[in-house]
Amino acid sequence: MIRSKRVSPTTPERVSAPRPKRVNAPRPKKVVAIDWTALEHAAFTARKKAYAPYSSYHVGAALLVASGRVFTGCNVENASYGLCLCAERNAIGQMVASGARDPIALVVATDGPKPGSPCGMCRQVLSEFAPKMPVRLVVEGAPRKTRKTDVASLLPDAFRPADLLERK
Ligand code: THU
Repeated sequence: MIRSKRVSPTTPERVSAPRPKRVNAPRPKKVVAIDWTALEHAAFTARKKAYAPYSSYHVGAALLVASGRVFTGCNVENASYGLCLCAERNAIGQMVASGARDPIALVVATDGPKPGSPCGMCRQVLSEFAPKMPVRLVVEGAPRKTRKTDVASLLPDAFRPADLLERK
């Protein structure tokens, strides 16, 4: 029988997601300033690439990490509807696949008329990496509609890595 190792996300006090040991990047000493305009532009650009033939609801996400890199994602739908991937989780996946961590800001661009709100699954995934990250939800147009929020407000009382350590 193959036994998998128990995942142990370091200490219970830890608030950010555990870093994989194989990714050897040191934590950046300096955190970049948040250029919200550039991040919004990146989210709108990502939204144009959405694959949404079933819902016709196009979403783009742009995630800024502490080092200054920006990772984007769009929604990717499927004929088997339950397999649809949201833009936010796509962006998180891009970040993780690049070996990056420490997201500090997120913009989600949706169809209008008012900005769409991240789904519950995306809220939990965002919370894993950035439980307090500021988030802007935007719709293109003049004037641009923007809702400012953060991950903690979107998902209070998230399931945390520490919860895994508190079981008996
Ligand atoms: N969608 C996202 O990309 N992000 C969300 O947080 C909510 C919903 C996508 C999934 C699907 O492709 C479409 O929007 C309609 O639900």
